Amino acid sequence: MDNLIEDIGFLSENELMSEEVKTTADHNSGNKRKLYIESYGCQMNFSDSEIVASILHREGFDTTSDIAEADLVFLNTCSIREKAEQTVRHRLTHINGLKKKKPEMMVGVLGCMAERLKTKLLEEEKMVDLIAGPDAYRDLPQLIAQVDDGTKAVNTFLSREETYADISPVRLNSNGVTAFISIMRGCDNMCSFCVVPFTRGRERSRDPHSIIAEATDLFNKGYREVTLLGQNVDSYKWSAEENNKARLEKTEANHIVHFADLLEKVALIHPDLRVRFSTSHPKDITDEVLHTMAKYENICKNIHLPIQSGSTRILELMNRGYTREWYLNRVKSIRTILGDACGITSDMIAGFCTETEDEHCETLSLMDEVQYDFSFMFFYSERPGTLAAKKLADTIPLETKKKRLDEIIKKQTELSAGRNQKDINKVHKVLIEGVSKRSEAFLQGRNTANKVVIFPKGEKGKGEYVNVWVESSSAATLFGKIVS
Ligand code: SAH
Ligand code: SF4
Ligand code: F3S
Repeated sequence: MDNLIEDIGFLSENELMSEEVKTTADHNSGNKRKLYIESYGCQMNFSDSEIVASILHREGFDTTSDIAEADLVFLNTCSIREKAEQTVRHRLTHINGLKKKKPEMMVGVLGCMAERLKTKLLEEEKMVDLIAGPDAYRDLPQLIAQVDDGTKAVNTFLSREETYADISPVRLNSNGVTAFISIMRGCDNMCSFCVVPFTRGRERSRDPHSIIAEATDLFNKGYREVTLLGQNVDSYKWSAEENNKARLEKTEANHIVHFADLLEKVALIHPDLRVRFSTSHPKDITDEVLHTMAKYENICKNIHLPIQSGSTRILELMNRGYTREWYLNRVKSIRTILGDACGITSDMIAGFCTETEDEHCETLSLMDEVQYDFSFMFFYSERPGTLAAKKLADTIPLETKKKRLDEIIKKQTELSAGRNQKDINKVHKVLIEGVSKRSEAFLQGRNTANKVVIFPKGEKGKGEYVNVWVESSSAATLFGKIVS
């Protein structure tokens, strides 16, 4: 996602998250069979691909970035919008062509589309050999063996417990500085537009001990930033009582760990380890989380707080569980506790069922009020099986949706440019992530508010912190020079 932010600045429906594809990096330890994975959709899917690579590595698979030399081709798919699924279908058509020339190549579909379509996908896409939903990855060795024996294999069982807590992910496409850690899976909110509760199942939180252990291990390996991932991190909740009592001391047995506690525990690993998190839900984010952020310099001051719509009536139809006023109140708390410099970013959906022109304008006016630093913006795409698909008519013509989306994007571009201008003539602490994609003579990293900062090379390199005096900015990037 972050690479995209730097490269294109803003995402329209044509360039949205789901269009980002990541392929496996080479990881060669002399194993005979080679795995190639392409990941679509959100960061949680990219994270899952690292778990899949880890499970299969133990089974004698190396990863490759070259599909031509792969024995096993996996697409880890997304269902969030129709376009995301279309992209995967096109890709499958292409892979079908490859398989005709190399019939022994095994093709598997993983992730949300596998979960949504289940065996139907086998009927529709004849060359697919294997289907595995997001909670079925431990079963992959068994499923692969089944295909080796000549039958198609499917597991789309959704679990109430699976968090892959004990599996140490193989970091694919890693810059060695920043990493993502899944802290929970699934979602119990039923936003009426959203397919995620159906593809990812019930919400469950991962054992905090395993999260701390993973973050500590990353720090010891030289990583300097972790992003804690979940569809709704503010409802993170773990108690030994509900989970595995035996593993904890008696005194800990009744203690419930909430998100603010977890955040603090991760922040305490080391002051040089930056901590980020995503996604916060406006109905659940607490002042306690904001105070914890204020208390630790290494918890980055940026909150992804998707509004979806600025109209209370539409928010109600979306079943988001908050009003415009509630949301603006949360923003007020952020500004009071963390100040104006804290980044606030959002997701917006244009043209949801029955949205009037006035209600669309309420989204624009809310954007002005909040002064978002950045947003992911989409037009509404009806997803089969969701509450909205069952109960609400998709009334807004595509042209109107696109027009409204354009207005939202235009508004955000102005806001981002304005917010970034405020960063000029100030010193920003930047964690260096590597060489700038624009020029070898420049480095790039991000400031606490998650903004990309580009500056000429100095003494310091990847994984180190520098102070950068920002001299200019665009809507997507800050430019400056290192100061002592
Ligand atoms: N858990 C996150 C959202 C994850 S999905 C949250 O609640 O904020 C990422 C984004 O995709 C959503 O925030 C929403 O803006 C968008 N999205 C989800 N379903 C969509 C749909 N049916 N059509 C268009 N955009 C959608
Ligand atoms: Fe979807 Fe809502 Fe859950 Fe986010 S909180 S994943 S939008 S159901
Ligand atoms: Fe897509 Fe599934 Fe993520 S639908 S956005 S890959 S949770």
